[in-house]
Amino acid sequence: MAVRQDTIWERFLSPVVRYFIDEEGLRRYAESVDWEKQSDRFRRADVTIPAYYSTQNFHGIQGGYLKSGAAVTYDAVTQYVLPPNEAWVRQALIDAVKVQPRRILDLGCGTGSTTLMLKQTFPEAEVIGLDLSPYMLVRASHKAESAALNIHWRHGNAEKTGFASDSFDLVTAALLFHETPSRVSQAILQESFRLLRVGGQVLILDGNQKALSQLEWLNNVFEEPYIREYAAGNMDAWMGAAGFETVRTQDVWWIHQVSSGIKPIPTAEEIAEVNMQHYTATPTNKTLDNNDLQGFPSPAFNTTA
Ligand SMILES: C[S@@+](CC[C@H](N)C(=O)[O-])C[C@H]1O[C@@H](n2cnc3c(N)ncnc32)[C@H](O)[C@@H]1O
Repeated sequence: MAVRQDTIWERFLSPVVRYFIDEEGLRRYAESVDWEKQSDRFRRADVTIPAYYSTQNFHGIQGGYLKSGAAVTYDAVTQYVLPPNEAWVRQALIDAVKVQPRRILDLGCGTGSTTLMLKQTFPEAEVIGLDLSPYMLVRASHKAESAALNIHWRHGNAEKTGFASDSFDLVTAALLFHETPSRVSQAILQESFRLLRVGGQVLILDGNQKALSQLEWLNNVFEEPYIREYAAGNMDAWMGAAGFETVRTQDVWWIHQVSSGIKPIPTAEEIAEVNMQHYTATPTNKTLDNNDLQGFPSPAFNTTA
């Protein structure tokens, strides 16, 4: 039988972080919520949980994000694992927005920390946070209610969201890609490309791939099953392969990075191909959710950017 090796996180860091966490406050919050009832508000029968997600523990939590415990403890722990300061790191994604978005989709939104910042920065925009864990969405919705922010929370897989093509101006993902196998990360970028209007922007905030690939010991710190795969990859290349242009990755406090890409104007050949598909399309080609998302013009760009 394989012997499970404790991570540095479990042996040394977790006890230290626990010392600073208000465990009693978290327990009171956890007990104040009927997690099954509340998560049922978000749970969608048409969402299939992928194996890479349900078979792994993330951050040492048995069952990963499909447990209410993950939603309760996530923020308390995350504040200590995004040096030098969680808010500064997340602000780097907000500062990299180059469009004036009217519809924003935050993929793998978790407890909604970045989603809330997006809504605060762009109060007129419709903001949607999407996550595979209905428990994380419960926590996110409580935070949005406390902050009096109107955000839509959606249970879904970022690889195949079911939203209509060309219906968002900005698609973001914070701290998602180090937790997905690289083939899934690339599928999420392809889905982001499909969802964006021409001129729309994708923004990915995550660990710095160059730094992580040089700091093997750091990858042993946390229980992150796909972080080595992530570190070995190249976000710029992944974005380019998905069709994005003006691709750029900037370091954020050395240990993090923000990557940006823009959906370009299609070439004449691509337009011809789409027109051809349009003529041969059958009703089964329809996307799941194209009700109120159509008809927006292309996003307006910040002239100051
Ligand atoms: C490390 S957390 C990041 C949460 C949040 N974005 C943040 O910045 O704190 C990763 C989140 O991605 C979600 N996730 C993982 N794979 C996903 C997928 N394929 N589709 C949607 N959400 C996913 C997990 O449920 C989890 O909430």
